[in-house]
Order: sequence, then structure tokens, then C-alpha cells
Amino acid sequence: MCGIIGITSNKPVSSSIINSLKKLEYRGYDSAGIATILDGGINEVKCEGRVKTLENNISKIKMLGTVGIGHVRWATHGAPSTLNAHPHSSESVSVVHNGIIENSTLLKKFLVEKGHKFKSQTDTEVIVHLITEYLKENDLKSSILKMLKKLHGSFALGIIFKDEPDLIIGARRGSPLAVGYGPNENYLGSDSYALKSMTNKISYLNDGEFCILKKNSVEFFDESGNKVNKKILELSSEDTSYDKGDYKHFMAKEIEEQPQTIKNCINEYLDKINKDINLLNFPWNKNEISSVTLIGCGTAYHSCLMAKHWFEQLTKLDVYVDIASEFRYRNNRFKKDNLYIFVSQSGETADTYAALDLCNKNNMKTCSVVNVVESSIARDSNFVLPIHCGPEIGVASTKAFLGQMLVLYIFALKLSYIRKDIDKENYLKKINSLLSLSELVKKSLDTDSQVQSACNSFVDAKGSMFLGRGSSFPIALEGALKLKELAYIHAEGYPAGEMKHGPLALIEDGMPVVVIAPRDDYYNKTISNMQEVIARGAKVLLITNKSTDEVFSENIWQKIEVENTDQDLLPFLITIPLQKLAYHSALKKGYDIDKPRNLAKSVTVE
Ligand code: M6R
Repeated sequence: MCGIIGITSNKPVSSSIINSLKKLEYRGYDSAGIATILDGGINEVKCEGRVKTLENNISKIKMLGTVGIGHVRWATHGAPSTLNAHPHSSESVSVVHNGIIENSTLLKKFLVEKGHKFKSQTDTEVIVHLITEYLKENDLKSSILKMLKKLHGSFALGIIFKDEPDLIIGARRGSPLAVGYGPNENYLGSDSYALKSMTNKISYLNDGEFCILKKNSVEFFDESGNKVNKKILELSSEDTSYDKGDYKHFMAKEIEEQPQTIKNCINEYLDKINKDINLLNFPWNKNEISSVTLIGCGTAYHSCLMAKHWFEQLTKLDVYVDIASEFRYRNNRFKKDNLYIFVSQSGETADTYAALDLCNKNNMKTCSVVNVVESSIARDSNFVLPIHCGPEIGVASTKAFLGQMLVLYIFALKLSYIRKDIDKENYLKKINSLLSLSELVKKSLDTDSQVQSACNSFVDAKGSMFLGRGSSFPIALEGALKLKELAYIHAEGYPAGEMKHGPLALIEDGMPVVVIAPRDDYYNKTISNMQEVIARGAKVLLITNKSTDEVFSENIWQKIEVENTDQDLLPFLITIPLQKLAYHSALKKGYDIDKPRNLAKSVTVE
């Protein structure tokens, strides 16, 4: 959350900073700002709103500094406004910050007593004044060390100094920060994505470290100020296409890409000749694991819930699922034979990272299912299962959800086979079904026009419900989350069998209700629950799969049928019309689909 960029070069940096901020805008889009050093002074431009506005403002002036920092903000302390936008500067120092300074109130009191005047309502401004204060009596490095020791909370920082026209300080605790290397210039970025158009040579700061960047040198230090040697990593060229192409929105593109992302993932994990799953260096043997705990946030949490269903169906392992922000504060019983699986598209979600960190500190077996393989969660897990989806830019997670589910399914199936919980014949059958998944997902994309006509009833609704049982329950939660975050329509995902224990009271004439009832073991039960809501006036959109059996259709308002396949894989096919429902509803309402209000792509604050 929030994006940082810093560049020190032998040429003016403001336009490169603006270009990188445009890439980082998915991390926050409340306000934006840039500061450069020129003629012994700090030149700062900030605005409320998008990077485009910042760019327009900058085009009216000359920003010729060759060292600079930029920021896109997702507000935590203080409303989105020009005043609260980053960078925050004193006469001598300018700072951009991701994260939260938890002891900012105390620090502010101390600084005000020393005569410092604050301009914003942000926690960040204490950093500016702390450095300014320490610089009075210390050299630059000691001032940074002293300042870092005073801060509680999580942060990634980019700092420039009036008297240092070639130097940027980067520091991290909790929030990610990367350094990029270029010819006669070096870069700082809150993720490597922002740096990719400038370099593919990257290093990552570890927790507690800081760095000093000059245009021709980079030095890293630990929290005591000792020099640290860093590996320079070469980023893969795989993730270089970041434009929308002919699509109106990244989300539309990412939905349509799903057959291909399924194909990519299957190519990575399935040995098509020997009909087997290859988990590539899986480090534990079957006797070392008797249970698994799956942990994630938001959509990733929903894929964990989905995986629980598969792990329980396919293996005899005990399976637990937790929301990362709950897990990290729970009095957990850590068990040596438990495998902890962390699911995250970005690999940078603060709560998921903290849960992983807690498990690592307790010497647990940790595994992550991530999209961004250079991310903190991937780097700090014992074992990584990448989802190979390519960059997901739309704030609403779509292709990463399918990718996470697919990798978790493949993982569960392989564990089941290794443990002999499934026989060879069934294992091979399921592998064959996986091989046709991409084509079936493609057919689900054809539901577009049906979804478009259904969404008319959702856009005007006060609220809606998404019901499902078994594997359809996590999909119901995901469908509801998508509609909430994109179309700002209240939507609740509920286990269909639970309706009569309370939420049935919400159903009134004309309320749109999505019932997810594929022909699986729960079909008849869910259809009965559907009748209960229809009887109370609900307008039901039934999502099921094609079958030769008669489908109950009396009083159903609309029905969408996806293709037929192995029961285990139906959730993949059903997810597509739900993603489209949210997309088209938001489009009809004229909302900003790739940047929904109040949200950001990568939630790097608690
Ligand atoms: O990057 P992560 O997968 O860890 O992100 C987790 C959630 O923040 C994310 O899935 C969020 O719920 C999405 N906006 C949902 O579309």
C-alpha cells in the first residue's frame, strides 16, 4: 500500500519518476507527489488525486533535479489531501513513507517541544523532523541510525537531502523495498514492478536494513550500521507486458487471460508424458506432515477455504484455514508436523507476511503460493509454489484467484497420491481433467452476454446474497467480495444451509440472489435452499453446470450454465460469470474498475 520511487542519476529524473508512479498507482491513488533537489533546495510538487494531475502540475514548472523521490498514497493517518500527500519536507530533508509509525504521537510531542512545526496530519512527518533534529549534531549516517531506532511500526522510506544532490537513503522494516541498478543511475522502489522498465538488476532490502544510493554506487547496512553484502538478482523477462492492450480495463484483460494462465500453470506443474504432477524439490516427505494450515487475506483467504475442501476430499490430512490478521494475534498451537501454507498474489500483504514470520520464528514448515516470486513472502518461505499468472494490475483479484486455486488443487492432488490416499486410476483421471481445464474455462468466458443482462437487477439493488454449499461456498464468498469492491453493492456470501438461521429475514420481494448449485453432492440440498428464498420473493440467478438431467427451473429468474467436468474443477468454471457480474455491474454504474474507492492492490499495512 502506497508506492515509493527514488532515482539518482546524471540527468533530470522527474519524468522517469512520474512514469514509475503511474506503474505504482495500483498501490494507492488518493494523492501523489514528487521532490527533487535543485540548486541547494528541495523542489516539491504534490496533489490530491491521481498521478495524471501531478504530471499536469509538473509540466507547468521546470523540475530539473537529478536526484528525486516520488510517492502515491493510500491514506492511513490523515485524510487524502495535498497537505497530507508525500513527500513531506523540512528545509533540509524530504521523505516518502509506506507503512505506519505507531509511536508518532509520542515522537511528535517530543519534536514540538524542541520547536518543530508540523504541517500535515500524517505520521510520516515525524520522520522528517527527527532527521532534521539529529542532523544538527550528527553526520548523515548516524542521524539515520538514530532516527530508525526511534521508530515503532512498519515502514519503507525514501529520503533525500538538500545538501546531498546525488544521494538517496532507503530503509525498511516490515514494508518491502527494492533497489535497482542502472548505467550512471540507481533506483529505489517499493516493488520491482515499478523498476522493471528501467532495469532488470535488483536487490531487496531485508527487514531492518537501510541503503545509501548514489548514481554510481549502492551500499547496504544492517540496523547497527554494519555494511552488508547483497546479491544482485536478474528479474525474468516473463513479466514485461503491463499494458491493457485493446481492453478497457486491466480487470477485463485479466479475466479473459484466464484460460492462458491456467495453461501456463499446468505446463509448469504437470508432466504430460508421464501423467504426473511435479512439485519440483518439495522438501518434506509424507511422514513429516499430518496436517496443514492455510492462511491468507481477502480473495487469497477464499482460495484457502476452497483448498480446505479439496485437501479434505483428496487426503486424510487435518486441514485448518485462517485469516492472516486473526492468525497473527491468536494463541496458536504450533505443531512440528503441520505444514503452514501462505497464499498471496502480491506476496507482500502485511498480515500474511506477519503470520509467516511468526511461523518461521517458531521453526515451522512454511510454504507459500504466490504470484510475485521475488516478493517477501516467497523469499522468506521454506518452499514456494508460484502460480505463474503474470502481473495482475486490477485491484480486484481475478486471474490470481484461479491461479491460487489451481496450484492448491494440484498440490492437494499430489499429496494425496504420495500419501496413497488416492489410487492411481483416480489420480490419472483427475490429471486428465486438469488437462482440459483451460478449454472449459474459455467456454465460461462465453457467459458474458447472459451476465450482462443479469446485472441490471444488481445495479439497482439495495443488497444481494450469494449462496452455495461445499466447494460453492468459498466461490459464493468470492462472488460477493467482487461485487462489493467493484460495484459498491452490499453483497453477502453465505452457506445456503445457514439462511434459515437468520439471514432469510433479509430476503424481500425482488432482492437479487445468486445461487451456486453445480451438479455435485450438494445439488439437491442447495436447490431446496433456493426454493426457500424464491418463496420469499428473491430474484434468483442460478449458476450451475450443463447436464442431461432435468434442472429445476421453476420460478428461477435467470440461469447460467457452465460446462461439465470433474466435480473438483467446477469452481473454476463458475467463478468466471461471477467475476463478470461484478465487472459489468461496476461498468454500468460508471465506477473506476481498476482502482475501486478506498482500496489498493497490495495491502502492506496492518
Ligand atoms: O496480494 P494478496 O493476495 O495477499 O492480497 C490479499 C487481498 O488483499 C486481496 O485478495 C483483496 O482481497 C483483493 N482486492 C480482492 O479482489
